[in-house]
Amino acid sequence: PYDFFARLRDTEPVHYNEEFEVWMVSSWEHLVWVTRHPEAFSSSVFARDTRAPNPPIDEDDMEIYNFIKKWQVSRFIQYDQKRYNPGVSGPDHVDMRRVMHGYFTPKSMEMWRPLVQSAIDELLDAVEEKGQMDVMSDLATPLPLLVIARMLGIPDSDRPILRSLAKDLRFLNRVGPDRMGPLSQAVQNLQEYLGPLVADRVKSPKDDLISVVAEGERQGIFDRDMTVNNVMLLLSAGHETTINLICNGTLAFTQHPDQWAILKSDPEGKTVRATEEALRYDSPVKSIQRIAMDDIEIGGQTIRKDDRVRWFISGANRDPKVFDRADDFDVERYPNQHVAFGSGIHHCLGATLARLEGQEIFRNLANRFDTMELEIPVKDVEYDHVLTFRAVESLPVKV
Ligand code: HEM
Repeated sequence: PYDFFARLRDTEPVHYNEEFEVWMVSSWEHLVWVTRHPEAFSSSVFARDTRAPNPPIDEDDMEIYNFIKKWQVSRFIQYDQKRYNPGVSGPDHVDMRRVMHGYFTPKSMEMWRPLVQSAIDELLDAVEEKGQMDVMSDLATPLPLLVIARMLGIPDSDRPILRSLAKDLRFLNRVGPDRMGPLSQAVQNLQEYLGPLVADRVKSPKDDLISVVAEGERQGIFDRDMTVNNVMLLLSAGHETTINLICNGTLAFTQHPDQWAILKSDPEGKTVRATEEALRYDSPVKSIQRIAMDDIEIGGQTIRKDDRVRWFISGANRDPKVFDRADDFDVERYPNQHVAFGSGIHHCLGATLARLEGQEIFRNLANRFDTMELEIPVKDVEYDHVLTFRAVESLPVKV
């Protein structure tokens, strides 16, 4: 997609796509401006979007669509701060985010590094024995789910259930008129599984992340549906995103043996910057959405009140106005002001955790394996063509 983003950025950085009735914005400068001006662009995309869905939804699917909408608008990622959007109903984004914020500080995330390390050891032992891996199924899918499940306090004995829920989590990120059935089934499966765990922690809190979210219910910030759906958000927000970081980063190393050699020359010292570069070069999240609160001029175009806008992280992170040799993968790049985690008040809550998992993966790969080779021609790597994610389907690699 990078040629396409470059063309957009060079010719029309703020572009209206008639077919999907959405603005596409692809420059770094505009993305950062928007995320820092929540008074101009709302995150309540589903609640505010009063137009009929496009592409249209079948009459028979409207009930399912409304169920999906209700689920979407109960998660705090879709909320605004009242000081920027006084008319908004329901709780304030600040209060909702504050419920969980303390849990995700760099200091408390650091405590999870040994668990991440031992989980990776176990996964890589199996890979080493085979001399081969599908990065997606052997490494990227199991790790983030295991870590977040432990954090949430999901019992280890439920791992088989979790594996089937992983498929559901992938559906959560694919809202579309042709996917309504499986999507609503996925939401229901997760609600049914998480509901009793949430009820238990509201009644008798434990030392886990579900109890942290449940505290929001005890304080009257969340109702029960919100508690369940925000636990689901934590489970899902870091799932596919971190999978993509691991897959896209590993793919980049297989395509740039010189950069792999640099990382291998000093895995302990070079892994932090290398992970930031993986996040920038082939960003796990391709775009974020907003909705205009009022008419506004940006990049020489007038965006109208209630227009939907997609801000392309993947375009911004290759913007030559900000990054020298923006299309090069350079593991020593510094400074690296990428926006892979967004910016402003909705900046990724799990960024420290995602970084930790990425760093441990790339460091351990570099420590263990002399070579990593993609087993298929790079042009045959298949992607799921969703607007939100840069997501490979599988990634066979020989080590
Ligand atoms: C928000 C990316 C991992 C939880 C975001 C946003 C981005 C992002 C771009 C901003 C959305 C917006 O402005 O509309 C990523 C990437 C990840 C990752 C690239 C991995 C490489 C995680 C993890 C968790 C997480 C591991 C949790 C365990 C969240 C939450 C929000 C968020 C809860 C919403 C924050 C808010 O609305 O205030 N993430 N994320 N993310 N992320 Fe992540």
